[in-house]
Amino acid sequence: MKILEKKIKEEGQVLEPDILKVDSFLNHQIDVSLFQEIGQTFQKHFSDKKINKILTIEASGIGLAVICAQNFDNCKVVFVKKAASKITDDHAYTTTIHSFTKNTDYIARVSADYLNEDDHVLILDDFLANGEAILGMYDLCQQAHATVEGIGVVIAKGFQSGMTRIKQETGLDVYALEVIEGFEKGKVILRK
Ligand code: G4P
Ligand code: NA
Ligand code: NA
Repeated sequence: MKILEKKIKEEGQVLEPDILKVDSFLNHQIDVSLFQEIGQTFQKHFSDKKINKILTIEASGIGLAVICAQNFDNCKVVFVKKAASKITDDHAYTTTIHSFTKNTDYIARVSADYLNEDDHVLILDDFLANGEAILGMYDLCQQAHATVEGIGVVIAKGFQSGMTRIKQETGLDVYALEVIEGFEKGKVILRK
């Protein structure tokens, strides 16, 4: 996506050793018109699929999923929760996700009320690194007997394991709008 490529190159900040900070449009401030184009791009790519639900994970996936969902017919958004609820929820599916950037494990949770065997799900997230979050969401869909129709991310780091692991473990390709090949002298190298 041309406009996304421009944003990454002009506004992305490379942090040592392998993190790209994109707070000015994706992870802190939200560029709504960019998100609208992103939503249209995902819709075009997945137009042959019958999608009634977008599944994402809090926090930064939510805004993205909501804008994207407006491009799909009658599409609801469900976000997986990371924090343990004080109200015991025995009507939920859970999975453990390891965060490499934070070096912690957390229990991710989705209520069985909002994910079930009638759902045709598009899994969306803002960033893909090692794939833990997306594999966690895939696991929750399997527990709920929902059908995963596709997986999309805005930016993927091609030099980390996520894309390969997801393909191996789910059989699905990740549709990434931009793939980072690596960093060179503080500059982002994007896949052609
Ligand atoms: P993984 O799910 O791909 O395995 O990600 P990992 O545990 O390595 O990273 C934890 C969080 O940080 C994830 O966000 C992930 O998308 C994000 N992240 C990883 N590498 C980068 C990077 O280079 N740049 C940016 N901007 N983000 C990165 P999350 O679970 O969605 O958390 P949150 O952001 O919603 O709190
Ligand atoms: Na994030
Ligand atoms: Na996210």
